[in-house]
Amino acid sequence: MNATPPDLPQSTIERAVSELSLGHLVAIPTETVYGLAADATNEQAISQVFVLKGRPPDRPLIVHLAAAEQLSEWALDIPEYARVWADEFWPGPLTLVLPKKAHVSTTLTAGQSTVACRVPNHPVALATLTSFDGGLVAPSANRYGHISPTTAEAVHEEFGNQTPMVLDGGACEVGIESTIVACLGSKPEILRAGMITAEQLETVGGVRVNSPGMAPNIVVPGQVSTHYAPRTRCQLLAGPQAVSSFLDAASSDLRVGYLGWQPAPSGVEKSVILEACPAASARQLYAGLRELDRAGLDVILVESPPSDQAWAGIRDRLQRACGP
Ligand code: TXA
Ligand code: MG
Repeated sequence: MNATPPDLPQSTIERAVSELSLGHLVAIPTETVYGLAADATNEQAISQVFVLKGRPPDRPLIVHLAAAEQLSEWALDIPEYARVWADEFWPGPLTLVLPKKAHVSTTLTAGQSTVACRVPNHPVALATLTSFDGGLVAPSANRYGHISPTTAEAVHEEFGNQTPMVLDGGACEVGIESTIVACLGSKPEILRAGMITAEQLETVGGVRVNSPGMAPNIVVPGQVSTHYAPRTRCQLLAGPQAVSSFLDAASSDLRVGYLGWQPAPSGVEKSVILEACPAASARQLYAGLRELDRAGLDVILVESPPSDQAWAGIRDRLQRACGP
């Protein structure tokens, strides 16, 4: 997969920035997934994002910034550990949820008193943000509930003739959405697992971090269990034994796909074999799911990833793709 962003001329960035200034949407590459960007201070533009995605109005958006210094323009009561994380991990795949400043639109925060912010680590996103000189909301550039796009082609696949201007920055390097941490008081909590782990946050921030599963009472807006789902039915299975038992029991005309780390099982029509390390697997994950989803299969068998923290983000997305 080509992860090197093609060089976009400054004039293309400037055209995107004038679109954004007019209140129009522009799909931009980030290191995680492509985002559907709009001016975070323009109510109409924000509403357009919800409409185009088909996203319910109670799912808040993330504000993307050009640099960590801008955080205090959007958020209040920033704990010291959150400042340390911003310094260490930004630009990068980390989103901080903090109390919002009064001017921040409640349309974008879905009525909440908190705002989610991050500085994306992609040259095209950073060039766009710097030139725009303001915050951009950017949810993943997919229809609500569908797989996030990790290439410009996948954005077109999502929106068809409704696709806005797309800045093609190549394939996303990280491949799954940012880690989201609520930084409200002395006990930060991970609201969405990603490639930055609780362990990394604890080491750098010198603070205990609750992870999903450890904090059952937290309601995470937007974290419906069918999120990130392909249209094809997916089934999570652990190990080659479970896969071969499934295939033994299945009727012979069932068209089966496989996504995982084992060699392609026999009896499977189409397979996507991921590389063994978490970073490479994350990078390949959504393109792999999209490829299988296009193949007209009846079911996609998905291998359960290992249980350690480095795989937490991938595990979370696969569990969601496979539904409850
Ligand atoms: O990597 C990413 O984060 C990508 C790229 C494009 O930056 N963006 C992304 O945005 O994944 P979206 O809208 O698809 O997911 C944002 C998540 C949602 O689950 C939403 O509920 C949560 O962030 N969120 C936003 N604001 C929040 C808040 N104030 N409190 C809690 N969760 C919030
Ligand atoms: Mg999304």
